[in-house]
Amino acid sequence: MKFPYSEKVLDHFKNPRNVGKIENPDGKGLEGSPACGDMVAVYLNVNPETLVIEDIKFESYGCASNIATASIITEMAKGKTLEEAKNISWKQATEELGGLPTVKAHCSVLAVEGLRAAIRDYEEKHGLVSEKETTTE
Ligand code: FES
Ligand code: FES
Repeated sequence: MKFPYSEKVLDHFKNPRNVGKIENPDGKGLEGSPACGDMVAVYLNVNPETLVIEDIKFESYGCASNIATASIITEMAKGKTLEEAKNISWKQATEELGGLPTVKAHCSVLAVEGLRAAIRDYEEKHGLVSEKETTTE
């Protein structure tokens, strides 16, 4: 059987970036995957003027693919505005990692949902959620 993980996935799994917790974060998200029951937590610190993500950390209770995806999306999201970070998709994250096995798609979806939940938490706390955003995908 061919080993299913790219070098980059292994690198991010073995040396995940931005692992941990931010004490008193500006936004936090905790999401669980219905597919496997695993969870991911994402913490954000956001510049209130520019809405740029200045710090981001995550804790994963999931598998290698989830850890690697969460790691790469923290790198992709750091320095981006909330709007930009919201548009990071699991497909982009997976491409950035050099691919993941198809059966592991839900693990990258879970990581992206954790990031989006943290962004939503920040927006809700700061009155930034518009009607449109709450009703659309
Ligand atoms: Fe979640 Fe394997 S089922 S790590
Ligand atoms: Fe659960 Fe990957 S199997 S996050």
